[in-house]
Amino acid sequence: MKIAIPMERREHEKRVAASPDTVKKFVGLGAEVIVEKGAGLRSSFSDQEYIDAGATIAGDAAAALKDADVILKVQRPLTEAEGGPGELALMKKGSTLISTLAPLQNKEQVAAYAAAGVEAHAMELVPRISRAQSMDVLSSQSNLAGYKAVLDATTEYGKVMPMMMTAAGTVAPAKAFIMGVGVAGLQAIATARRLGAIVTATDVRAATKEQVESLGAKFIMVESDETGEGEGGYAKEMSDEYKKKQAELVFEHLKKQDIVITTALIPGREAPVLITDEMLAQMKPGSVLVDLAVEAGGNVTQSKPGEVVETENGVKIIGHINVPSRLASDASSLYAKNLFNFLSPMINKENGALEMNWDDEIIQGTGLTRDGKVVHPLLTEGGN
Ligand code: NAI
Repeated sequence: MKIAIPMERREHEKRVAASPDTVKKFVGLGAEVIVEKGAGLRSSFSDQEYIDAGATIAGDAAAALKDADVILKVQRPLTEAEGGPGELALMKKGSTLISTLAPLQNKEQVAAYAAAGVEAHAMELVPRISRAQSMDVLSSQSNLAGYKAVLDATTEYGKVMPMMMTAAGTVAPAKAFIMGVGVAGLQAIATARRLGAIVTATDVRAATKEQVESLGAKFIMVESDETGEGEGGYAKEMSDEYKKKQAELVFEHLKKQDIVITTALIPGREAPVLITDEMLAQMKPGSVLVDLAVEAGGNVTQSKPGEVVETENGVKIIGHINVPSRLASDASSLYAKNLFNFLSPMINKENGALEMNWDDEIIQGTGLTRDGKVVHPLLTEGGN
């Protein structure tokens, strides 16, 4: 079996789908690994490290993909309409593509994988069952995003985070507020605490209270009978009444905050707006917000993808795109490991061949296309 690792060509993408470590493991299982020249450089992996791990280096994407049975990627293939090279056209019929593919937002591209005879698996659809935790790319990448969000906030923040008692006087610790405490939010709490901030957090899922408190932060939540627990541990959209109560609670709290990290997402929908213009107008000058949901529509009304916006009253709103890619080396290592954990059980230990087990709920959960057809229920049954 030949596994190809092409270079990622999308804007803001520095990650790569294999590390020298995972290449070595694949080679150990009898696979042949072909890495496109320079594919790992922006993740701090040199071609030589891949060669030492047992890979061969291909001069360009076409050479890497030509004979590949499996293609590992971070982002969905570029199309010519998106400023290509059209990467899909370089993949052979019958090959298997494993990547994050944003299938619900790119249904026509999923149809193109089927038409090209490529079996596509979307890693963001790995089901959230305990057996699949080691394959969960959303978790591995969100964890890093939560950490980096706090560091990004500190670089824009003109004060220190911890309390400092010096001969010249005492500096008060920063107050950090984390909104949405899934994987990213919990890591943001832990990071802000390590830096010495006083941390509060909120979420619509009551189950998060204990997690927040175990990290030494204070939990703030709307008093309501309504529960935010949706399917698979994700949140659901809340009623207008709940949102009003949440806004009132947050309004007063925000006035006292120095750093705010928002991470709230609802699967299949626009991110909920948590911080409005009115709230921003009440915040302290010099306070900093990081909107990790900026690419999903944003939790903060004035955040802009790829920009640091400063409001009239001196509040900075950070809207970096693809935050995990800002920690490309670690993000790639963990992502590559997720892919290895996903793919390795499907490799026949005797002859090194790929045997996708379509009876496995993980493969059914990720599989978008098979034998020239779109097969995923979210796409064939209308899904959301
Ligand atoms: P996410 O990225 O979908 O959302 C981030 C957070 O925003 C969530 O905690 C959500 O409840 C919150 N949120 C949504 N709307 C909100 C609102 N209006 N106001 C405030 N907060 C709001 O969530 P993520 O990080 O994917 O985690 C969701 C859950 O899944 C967590 O409980 C996590 O522990 C669990 N999980 C389970 C895994 C497994 O069993 N394999 C793997 C990873 C996560």
